[in-house]
Amino acid sequence: MQLKSIFQAKNLSGKTVLVRIDTNVPLKGKHVLDDSRLKQAVPTIRFLQRHGAYIILIGHLGRPAGKVVPSLSLKPVGYTLGKILRQPVKVLTLSSKPEVIKNESKKGLVLLENIRFDKGEDNNSQLLARSLARLGQIYVNEAFSFSHRATASMVSLPKKLPSYAGLALINEINSLENISHKGKKPVVAVIGGAKISDKLPVIEKLLPRLSAVLVGGGVANTLLRAKGLKIGKSLIDNKEIKDGKKLIKRAGKKLILPVDVVVDNVSTKRLEARLKMVNKLMTSDKIVDLGTETCRVYAKYIKKAKTIFWGGPLGLVEESKWRHATLALGRLASARARRQVFVVVGGGDTVGFFHQHNLVVDFFSAGGSAMLNFLAGEEMPGLTSIGYRRPK
Ligand code: 3PG
Repeated sequence: MQLKSIFQAKNLSGKTVLVRIDTNVPLKGKHVLDDSRLKQAVPTIRFLQRHGAYIILIGHLGRPAGKVVPSLSLKPVGYTLGKILRQPVKVLTLSSKPEVIKNESKKGLVLLENIRFDKGEDNNSQLLARSLARLGQIYVNEAFSFSHRATASMVSLPKKLPSYAGLALINEINSLENISHKGKKPVVAVIGGAKISDKLPVIEKLLPRLSAVLVGGGVANTLLRAKGLKIGKSLIDNKEIKDGKKLIKRAGKKLILPVDVVVDNVSTKRLEARLKMVNKLMTSDKIVDLGTETCRVYAKYIKKAKTIFWGGPLGLVEESKWRHATLALGRLASARARRQVFVVVGGGDTVGFFHQHNLVVDFFSAGGSAMLNFLAGEEMPGLTSIGYRRPK
C-alpha cells in the first residue's frame, strides 16, 4: 500500500487538521442507534490531539441534496461523539464565519454541520473545497465508507492541502487488500439492503471472483421484478430493472435468487405475515424477509464457502419480526468465521446488526458499497485523491 498515514505527518503541533469522517449513522429521532462508525475515528482524533493539533471534523448524514434538512442535523452525532471521547464537540453551521470556526477549534473539538446541506459537496465544487481548505493546514481521510464518492470533501479538498490517511482507514485498506489477494475459493457474496443502484453494478464487477451471490432485501426484490415476477408493494428501484435484467443474464447460475419469501399484507392493518413462493405474490403483498426454503438453499452455499463478503441485511431488520433470515444466516456465517472460513461484513446497518446480536466475524468493514467497490477492484476517488494506488 502506498499511502501516507497521519503517523508520517511532521510538526502537527499548533496546526489545524480537517478530518473527514463518516457520520452517516443510523438514527432514531435524536438517538444514535449504532456508534461504531464514530468510534472508528477516535484513535485518529486522540493521536492528533496528543500531538497538539486542533481538529475540525467534516461529516454527512443522509442525502439532503444541498438543502438544510433539520432532521439530518449532525447535532445528535456531535453529542454522541462527545460522550465517546468524554469531551464536548461543538457543531457549527457551514455559514459560520471562518474566524469563528478556527477560534472554536482552538478551544475544543469542532464538527461542521452536515456537509451535504451545501450542494457543493455532492457536486465536488471547487468553491466549497477552497473555503474548507482555508480553515486548516492539513487534511485527513478517516472515512473509508465514503471513499467511493467523488465529492468536494473527499476529492477536491485533499488536493488543496497536504493529505494523509487516518489510522482506521489504513487498517481497513490493509485488511481488504489482504482479502483481495489471499481470499480462498469458493468466494460467496451475500448482498442485501437498499442502495440498489450502488449494489447491482458492483455485483456485476465482483462476478469473476465469486462462485455464488446470494441476494436479499431491496436488491433481491429488484432482481425478482427484473425477472418478470410480480412483487406487489415490496421495496424496489424501478430505474434499476434494466440493469437487473443484464445482471441476471451475465451472472447465470452464480446469481441465487429467493424461491420463497415472507410477506406482509399492506391492505390490512393487522399483521399478516405469510410465507409465499415468489411467483405467488399479490399486489398488496410486501416482501419483508426471506422464506425458510431460501434460507436452507443459502445456508448450503455459506457452508461450502471459504471466503464470505456480506453487505446489507436480507429483510426489513429494523423490525425485530423481520430479522429471521439475516439472523439465522448471520449466525451460520459467524459460527464458521475465524476457523476454516474468512468472513467480512460491511456497511453501517449490517455491522450494527451483527454487533447487536453479538455475531463475531473476521473483519468488520466500515463501508457497505465502499467495501464491495474496493473488493471489486473499482476506482475509489476518495482514496486516489490522497495518493492511493492499488498494488499490482
Ligand atoms: C454509507 O453510509 O455507506 C456512506 O456514508 C455513503 O453514503 P451515501 O450512499 O449516502 O453516499
